[in-house]
Amino acid sequence: MGFDPDSWVYELVMGCIGDFYPEPDRMLPHAEKIVHSFLIEFLCKKQFKSCKYDLFATEGGTGGIIYVFNSLIKNKLIKKGDKIAIGSPIFTPYLEIPHLNDYELVEIQIKADPNDNWQYPDDEIDKLKDPSIKAFFVFNPGNPQAKAIKDETIQRIADIVENDNPNLIIISDDVYATFVENFSSIMSEIPSNTICVYSFSKHMGCTGGDWV
Ligand SMILES: Cc1ncc(COP(=O)(O)O)c(C=O)c1O
Repeated sequence: MGFDPDSWVYELVMGCIGDFYPEPDRMLPHAEKIVHSFLIEFLCKKQFKSCKYDLFATEGGTGGIIYVFNSLIKNKLIKKGDKIAIGSPIFTPYLEIPHLNDYELVEIQIKADPNDNWQYPDDEIDKLKDPSIKAFFVFNPGNPQAKAIKDETIQRIADIVENDNPNLIIISDDVYATFVENFSSIMSEIPSNTICVYSFSKHMGCTGGDWV
C-alpha cells in the first residue's frame, strides 16, 4: 500500500493497546485504506475500481445493521410509520427490527423467486417505484442461497432510482460477496443511494470485525 512503515506500525501498536480510544470515531486511517482496497477488489467491477467510499468500522455485521437503522431514524431520513421494502428471504434481524416500538415501520416484501435461481421478478422490483417507499433492505448475495442479483435487475433498480424514486435509500448487505465470482455490489452501480454492510465473518469463517 506504500505506507510509511513507522506510521503503520505505530497505528497497529496504538490500536492493539487502545491508546487513543474512542478516537478516531470512524476508523483507523491505514486500516481504512486496506479495507477500502479489499472492498473495491471484491465488490466492484472493473469500471468502478476508482470509486471512493467512506467506511465506518463496527463490532459486527449485526451491529452495523442496527447502527444503520438507528442512524436513519435519528437523522430523520426514515420516520415512524414510513414504508420500507425488504428483499426476502432475509437474515432475521432485518425482519424483526422494523417492528420494534422505536421504529414501527410498514414493511413491503420484495420476494425472490426460488424457481428462477432466487432472482427478483421485475414486477416485484417495480414496487420500488412507489416514492412513499423510503428504503430498500436487501442481501446480495442472498442468505441462505448465496446467489447474486443479476446485472439486469440491478440496472432496473438504478433506472427506478433515476426516474421514479430518487430518494430511495438502498441498504445492501453484501457479507457473502466473496462467495460469488466476479460479484458486483449495488453499491458500485448506485453509489449515491447505497449504504453497504460488509462483514469479514463469512469470508474468514469467524465473527466480528466489520465495516459499514
Ligand atoms: C447476511 C448477513 N448479514 C450479517 C450477518 C451478521 O454478521 P456478523 O456475524 O458479523 O454479526 C449475517 C450472519 O449470519 C448474515 O447472514
